[in-house]
Amino acid sequence: MSILITGATGKLGSLIIEQLLKRVERERLIACVHRLDKAIQLRELGIEVRQADYDDPLSLERSFAGGSKLLFISSPHTDDTVRVRQHSHVIEAAKKANITHLVYTSFAFLEKANISLTHLHLATEHAIRTTGIPYTFLRNGLYSDVIAAFGIQQAIETGELITYPGKWSFHTVTREDLSLAAATVISTEGHENQTYELTASRAWNFVELAEVLAARTGKSIRHREDPVAESWLYHFLMQIDASSTTTDLERIIGKPTASLEQMVRQIMEQA
Ligand SMILES: NC(=O)c1ccc[n+]([C@@H]2O[C@H](COP(=O)([O-])OP(=O)(O)OC[C@H]3O[C@@H](n4cnc5c(N)ncnc54)[C@H](OP(=O)(O)O)[C@@H]3O)[C@@H](O)[C@H]2O)c1
Repeated sequence: MSILITGATGKLGSLIIEQLLKRVERERLIACVHRLDKAIQLRELGIEVRQADYDDPLSLERSFAGGSKLLFISSPHTDDTVRVRQHSHVIEAAKKANITHLVYTSFAFLEKANISLTHLHLATEHAIRTTGIPYTFLRNGLYSDVIAAFGIQQAIETGELITYPGKWSFHTVTREDLSLAAATVISTEGHENQTYELTASRAWNFVELAEVLAARTGKSIRHREDPVAESWLYHFLMQIDASSTTTDLERIIGKPTASLEQMVRQIMEQA
């Protein structure tokens, strides 16, 4: 039984391939990639690579032919109206290819928001349901990348973490934990027709972020709220549920989700 993975050259897709290689024979994996020139590493790993463009239905049909399970990573396109069309192409091609299990990377707590991003993911989930293909919706929480956007570098330099006023807390997750969950779900049984809200088991807040930054740098860093910190990011975060948590992710990966300390360390090491 083969496993197709779209977006396989992306940050999440690459980590999922890494995890899948530990679980299934490489001969069973088919990487569906947008740009073949980015897939050299996948080929070197001995994985079959096929070209698949979300904008090109024929390429998707060719790419999915003969595949059994499909791990569909949502498009990174910035226009959600375009993404609806791209995702429909993927779903139609999956139906034509008689895919037996469609796993889709969605977004956490969709019903609690009313923005184009959440409409896109809900529309995709509904479209997948119309096919009758057994599905699993991996509703991924907010990537931990967002932590860097809260001005942590400035906080380290100035000793003050300045954030927009409000009762903020975040369920951020690492792509490593999400990839482990995705690889587990697609390579094991019992996940058909399930929806998982994949978040950290516990949300963190800005006071804790300042404490973690202080502990890592050995500097005194205090947290202060100030309307001057207003930005598009807070506006976005106000419109989604980035704070609710579940234990779905921890349960699937069989270990605690990454802590705030681990997420901050990863960001600082990658900076
Ligand atoms: N939960 C969150 O906080 C959050 C945040 C950001 C994004 N996301 C979603 O999560 C997805 C995966 O994240 P990521 O970090 O792995 O993103 P990423 O590194 O940008 O990877 C996106 C993948 O999609 C491929 N792609 C782009 N256009 C395509 C097309 N027309 N047809 C087929 N494939 C195409 C890219 O291939 P090329 O490089 O060859 O174009 C790449 O392999 C994103 O695409 C986005 O939908 C979630």
